[in-house]
Amino acid sequence: MIDIHAHLLPGVDDGPENWEETLSMLQTGVMDGISGVVCTSHVVDYLSKELENEFKEKFQQLKKTVKRERMGISLWLGSEMHYYASYNHRSKVATLNGNGKYILLELPFIEIPNDVGETIFQIALKGRIPIIAHPERNLTIIRKPELLYELVQRGALLQINAGSLTGGFGRNIKRLATQLFDHQMVHFVASDCHSPRSRPMILSKAYGAISKRWGEDRAEQVLRINPHKAIMGEKIYPPEPIPFDERIRRRRGRFHFPFFRHSSTG
Ligand SMILES: [Fe+2]
Repeated sequence: MIDIHAHLLPGVDDGPENWEETLSMLQTGVMDGISGVVCTSHVVDYLSKELENEFKEKFQQLKKTVKRERMGISLWLGSEMHYYASYNHRSKVATLNGNGKYILLELPFIEIPNDVGETIFQIALKGRIPIIAHPERNLTIIRKPELLYELVQRGALLQINAGSLTGGFGRNIKRLATQLFDHQMVHFVASDCHSPRSRPMILSKAYGAISKRWGEDRAEQVLRINPHKAIMGEKIYPPEPIPFDERIRRRRGRFHFPFFRHSSTG
């Protein structure tokens, strides 16, 4: 399995506080069967040259340690760009593995900005593919998941947190993560690990849950094949998403039809 969303560089965001925590998280990941991970620290406002250099230096230090300790895990550098920092993505650190293709984009947690469709379109115009990080945790999307359909239609891909699918963020978020799978709108599952205590680097439980409900091919797709392609900057051909309202219409049609017949004939 390959993890495309992980906060591993110490002291740069709300991830690990020191190198000891970073290495402990990586050991958990290796034990879990994760063979590669992208270090995606938060970029909240602006990706300054200083922040970029700090990411790069700490990443190189981590790579050396992992090699020296023979930990057996591949590392790549990227970042998690907050929505309002997303225009500043000329830097290589803004895209996964600096490939200039896939950008991990975090929406605000409560609202969906009105211009999100336009922003995604603008990112796509520059030849980049936005991957929306954990949309299942956004409060507006929990109420109106159909908003995501338009974004996927405009070319966005979606990344769900492993913990969302296995119930770590509560029942509502698990339900939405499951619905998104049912509607063919999940393209990646990642850990979004932050520390050894909260949100560890574990993907195997999600792999098992996906395999059980949607089949092993689906688990391979979202936990190995698509992550590998995104890191290599290769094209991903996602399945056609199923609109939410269509499913609701179909369900209503099934349940309401007999009542309609009854009232019209009675
Ligand atoms: Fe994150």
